[in-house]
Amino acid sequence: MSLELTILGSHTPRMCYEDKVPEFQKELVAAMHRASERLYAVRPEVLVLVSTHWVASFNHYIDATPVHEGVLTAMECPDLISNLHYRYPGDNALARALVEAGRAEGLPVIAVEDPTYVWDYGSVVPLRYLTPKADLPVINMTVCLTASLEETYRLGQIIGRVLREQPKRAVFLASGALAHNILRGPERKPTPMEQSMEDHFVRLVLEGDLAQAWAILPQFSQLARVEAGGRHVATWLGVMGDTAFRGEYLGWGQSSGSGNPVIVMHPQGA
Ligand SMILES: [Fe+2]
Repeated sequence: MSLELTILGSHTPRMCYEDKVPEFQKELVAAMHRASERLYAVRPEVLVLVSTHWVASFNHYIDATPVHEGVLTAMECPDLISNLHYRYPGDNALARALVEAGRAEGLPVIAVEDPTYVWDYGSVVPLRYLTPKADLPVINMTVCLTASLEETYRLGQIIGRVLREQPKRAVFLASGALAHNILRGPERKPTPMEQSMEDHFVRLVLEGDLAQAWAILPQFSQLARVEAGGRHVATWLGVMGDTAFRGEYLGWGQSSGSGNPVIVMHPQGA
């Protein structure tokens, strides 16, 4: 098996610059550092990530650019993330293999190979913690708004299959929040009911009951307004599929009414 680990991680914009992180998100930052330790412990060779801030309307895009390089000023919050230079290696061959596998199953998956494409902050922010030396090849992909959760899960399954069948030691990251009924006020938490639903979902994942987590995801996504309609979570669960995983909870933080757990999932027996 060469899918070595999966991660649910956060990208809240206030943690982009570690020296500016507010007090209430310090635990979240510590959790992301712990996730980085787990990541490097499996000696990864490639990281595939889905970001809730790379939003596509009709197609699933996978970034096959050999080197991801650019300057990011976040469209949603240019006051928080501005003039951020990034450079990460890519993996053209594996990205193209993912695209081909999706297309072979009839899904509208398109490769992007364009050095002028500028990444979203949902891709850049978690990598600043997970791969601080920017030394790990990265392939990122979209959430597609016209894709149902079922289609998104199916694409996740395809990606999981390809990652298991290829020889590189791969890690998959889902970058996004769970409860996401966002409000003004960065320090605000989800409502008690939203938090209860999120906690229940997280418990299922940590217990390795991924089938039940997938079964409740549509309603959970609707009621707690999970970020991107839960599509990053559907991709994440699809990547893990029927394989047994054990979960490890690393921490949590709120951001403007959203809930941001950091979870790593280890293939069982690993
Ligand atoms: Fe977000």
